[in-house]
Amino acid sequence: MGTRRLAGPVLAALSMVFVLTIAAVAGAAEQPTGLPAGPAPKPTPTPTFRRDVRPILQARCVTCHRKGDVGPFQLETFAQARKRAHDLADVAEERSMPPWKANAKFGPRLKHDPTLTPSEIAVLRAWAEAGAPQGEGTDAEPAAVDASDEGWSLGEPDVVLEMTEEFTVPAGGPDIYRCFVIPSRLSRDVYISAIEYRPGNRKVVHHAMAFIDMKGGGRERDKAESGPGYTSYSGAGVVIDGDLGGFAAGNQVSHLPDGVGRLIPGGADVILQVHYHPTGKPEVDRTRLGLHLCRKPVEQSIHWANATNEKLRLPAGDPNVEIKADWHVPVDVEALGVTPHMHQLGRDFRMTATLPGGAVRELIDIPRWDPSWQNTYYFKERILLPRGSTVHVVAHFDNSAHPLNPHSPPKDVTWGPGAADEMLVGYIGVVKKGQDLTQPGQKDDLFQILSRQYYRKVVRERFARR
Ligand code: HEC
Repeated sequence: MGTRRLAGPVLAALSMVFVLTIAAVAGAAEQPTGLPAGPAPKPTPTPTFRRDVRPILQARCVTCHRKGDVGPFQLETFAQARKRAHDLADVAEERSMPPWKANAKFGPRLKHDPTLTPSEIAVLRAWAEAGAPQGEGTDAEPAAVDASDEGWSLGEPDVVLEMTEEFTVPAGGPDIYRCFVIPSRLSRDVYISAIEYRPGNRKVVHHAMAFIDMKGGGRERDKAESGPGYTSYSGAGVVIDGDLGGFAAGNQVSHLPDGVGRLIPGGADVILQVHYHPTGKPEVDRTRLGLHLCRKPVEQSIHWANATNEKLRLPAGDPNVEIKADWHVPVDVEALGVTPHMHQLGRDFRMTATLPGGAVRELIDIPRWDPSWQNTYYFKERILLPRGSTVHVVAHFDNSAHPLNPHSPPKDVTWGPGAADEMLVGYIGVVKKGQDLTQPGQKDDLFQILSRQYYRKVVRERFARR
């Protein structure tokens, strides 16, 4: 990573998961022979909305399928769910909802995994098949939640940063990627444990991420373009000095682990990049960021390294181009999470680490890349990557004619930050193993180490290309 990263980690504060055990799905376990027969298996009662379905929708779906949010319809009441009973079962079985692209059978367990369990999927199917019964009871429907009235989910932040002006998203047209410069007005360096994105208008804000700018690059871009902010598809579009993670629709926010902080230098500008998806009506947005300062002493500072391949070349018409990228781990680190990043032509993305002894650790697998859901996946447990390890990314791209291809007919595509260019970046959030910034003499030097390494790599590659 580095100060020169153009792409952004969409640091979402989310992740989730379960290892899916097939056994749990099939309610029909056979009686082992030769053993005394146990009690007869209880006949599974027909699921009802009140008892079985509503809790699933409340836990897994309404974060987006509620008024004022990105889901195209609400799933809060019996009437709303009954109308679509079969669709709900279909998307659950296809695992296309909730949107979560990580392969649960690969890599470590992830935080915030919203994936439905096999038995939840079976409930949705059985409910639809049974004609979507409401079930006994007279309890009132839970009050419908309007996403736009919702408060901060982590409580009042210590610092709130807000877009300095409203931005109007037109009714139609292509998605908009817009950066807004927000002066932080922080007089000193601070460490934050969480950043909460509060879209001003959740119907149009699909993703957002934020970057640190100490050199005024964002202000210059802003001045050069009319209207609030400036356009940049991939990240801040200027040389940045750190990143603040991101927001994806439906994300849960959480604090970093105790003792870990994210640095915002005093005097920094924060560049907020927002991905807007027009809704058919003009919409106005003014997104805010809530910063929570670390309450506990900060021992380690998280920074985002990356495996990139800026030499990628995708020949026009080729449906399956393999591209690889590596990051050589310069000091002992612990990895907390990853953010896979590609654009419209990505097909799949897999990240592993080879440790110095040759052992391989799985990190993440995205079997069907979807450029709309650029999430950050946080690991449940930290993963130690000793100095000398290599993080590998292997990805495939489809540059044949297809609806997501920005070029029609397809053209050769190379590295670049625009919507019509491609990128391959495996961001990995790391802390320095053993770092204890509370001890005298310890420095938060991981960002410098990573930036130096990144620049050396860029220089080497440029030189090699001549
Ligand atoms: C992170 C936000 C989010 C969550 C959580 C979510 N949805 Fe969706 N859902 C969407 C969006 C956005 C769409 C519109 C299509 C798209 O962009 O993929 C959608 C579309 C759908 C559709 C229409 C499918 C189609 O092909 O158009 C169904 C049905 C659906 N969701 C059901 C569910 C169910 C059931 C759950 C919970 C198990 C759920 N969704 C959770 C965001 C979400």
